[in-house]
Amino acid sequence: MSNHGCKITVLAIGVAIVATLLCVPGKLTAQSAPKATAIPLPPMGWSSWNSFSNTVDSQVIADQAKATISTGMHKAGYKYINIDEGWWLGKRDEHGNIVVDPKAWPALAPGERAGDMSNIVRYIHGLGLKAGIYTDAGRDGCGTMSPDIGPGYPNEGSEGRYEQDFLQFAKWGFDYVKVDWCGGNKENLDPAVQYAEIARAIGRAEAITGHRLYFSICNWGKESPWTWAPNIGGLTADIWRTSGDIVDPIVAGSKNAGRRASFKKMLSNFDQGIHPEAQHTGFYNDPDMMVIGMPGLTDAENRAHMSLWAISGAPLLVGADLTQLSDATLATLTNSAVLAIDQDALGPQSVKVREEAGGLEVWSKRLARPGDRAVLLLNRADAALSIAVSPITVTWKDLGLAGSSATVIDPWNGKSLGTFNASYTATVQRGDAVLLIVRGTETKAAHILPSQAIKGTAGLSLATANEVTFRFKASTCGLPAASFQIVYKNPDQAPRMAELRVNGQDATRILFPSTGTAEGAIWIQAAPNSAEANESGNNLMSLSTSTGVVPQIESISLYQNGICDAGGQKNP
Ligand code: GLA
Repeated sequence: MSNHGCKITVLAIGVAIVATLLCVPGKLTAQSAPKATAIPLPPMGWSSWNSFSNTVDSQVIADQAKATISTGMHKAGYKYINIDEGWWLGKRDEHGNIVVDPKAWPALAPGERAGDMSNIVRYIHGLGLKAGIYTDAGRDGCGTMSPDIGPGYPNEGSEGRYEQDFLQFAKWGFDYVKVDWCGGNKENLDPAVQYAEIARAIGRAEAITGHRLYFSICNWGKESPWTWAPNIGGLTADIWRTSGDIVDPIVAGSKNAGRRASFKKMLSNFDQGIHPEAQHTGFYNDPDMMVIGMPGLTDAENRAHMSLWAISGAPLLVGADLTQLSDATLATLTNSAVLAIDQDALGPQSVKVREEAGGLEVWSKRLARPGDRAVLLLNRADAALSIAVSPITVTWKDLGLAGSSATVIDPWNGKSLGTFNASYTATVQRGDAVLLIVRGTETKAAHILPSQAIKGTAGLSLATANEVTFRFKASTCGLPAASFQIVYKNPDQAPRMAELRVNGQDATRILFPSTGTAEGAIWIQAAPNSAEANESGNNLMSLSTSTGVVPQIESISLYQNGICDAGGQKNP
């Protein structure tokens, strides 16, 4: 294997042996301002589980869909109305088709037949929204094992019928499907195998119906889905849950009405959702539906929760009853500058760039506008400690910004807090977070490709089963991840894909959407190796493909997510 990318590889395709030249001569490409490639952004919407448990029916869904419009949530960007568990009771007809209760899912318009799920989909679409549905990868759904309200219903899963069920969901017109893991877990199935099979069934359903079905994997982080879920089964967008539920359903007027959401559990889900190396090119870690507006959190905690989901670029799925939102909750859920942080076009996740004793943390998310960072100052000091309020400082070096001056903006009220030299300090209450936009000067990138080995050439064309490996030096002070901008061309209509492996860590699959004849740019993050390896520039990154053709890569530039102090101080 070459460390610099120029090699001749011999491939076996069928019985033919083909020699493929990896480096394609051409002229050097300008590095300055390649157009960022549009990627799918984190989904935004509402899900029925947290506030309705398995009592969901057509009336509940229609009311929530209407409220999405009347509250202005739709205008703010929320579009999916997702039906979670409880919509069917595990019954099928003699052909294996799912049968639903016609009373729960009646006709909603003239000419419709009761018991047809496409009725509610038409209703949702009629409001300009998108519709989501739910099943389990195993034979049983979660309701069989731990029924929340009412009896448990066996056989609420899709195992053995993936092709039939996902085709049915697409034919009904659903736009989104969440696939749970209770049955799969009970049967000890391999999630990577089952979800890949499901992704292929989705791909097939999409091909047959021409209808797009967004894929949401819900196996609570088991077997580390961030290592196998991106681009699973060739799907070009998906999200995967990284942890268990923040809260069990709190259904008003039910035996579960007394349950409370907890800030601590929400924080723990945030932590478990951080896998920056796997979040890129339209694939997202999913720390669970938000509990904002549900009983248990104060207005300040709701804002901190929103700030955490926004900075991690998480899917924004609301779990609260939208017909009961307070003004404060609505304002928290619909603040356009905060939503813009979550929905920023670049797509990568935040990284923790500073941590001080006592639970004081600084998180940074690179934004599309060069020199812009979303920054979160989080005070998670233990309540047992007497200090309730603490100053937290972010330095421009923590953020990988050059120059001494940067402007700081409070996205919650849209006001500029001023221009500051070298750093900014805010006082943060225990259990609270301060969200900022820091607008500074981007550092100069290190161009790691084209490298010396391919000087005078542009474009690195990988063909089937090829791999290129190169070295990079990330930082000398142990920062959590470096950012990479990959400039490429993909003339196909469909995205191309490459496996990305860094320092022998688990691979992830990155997508290169079509760029036509122009250049496009995507962003990824990669964790550097030990500080020693960094110093000697000994990080290894490889791009490969075992199937298909990857794009022509024009350049790869490395941007530090932090700058070491003069003494090479380790941070965090
Ligand atoms: C699991 C999931 C939840 C919800 C329930 C339904 O617990 O993690 O999000 O879908 O199942 O039973």
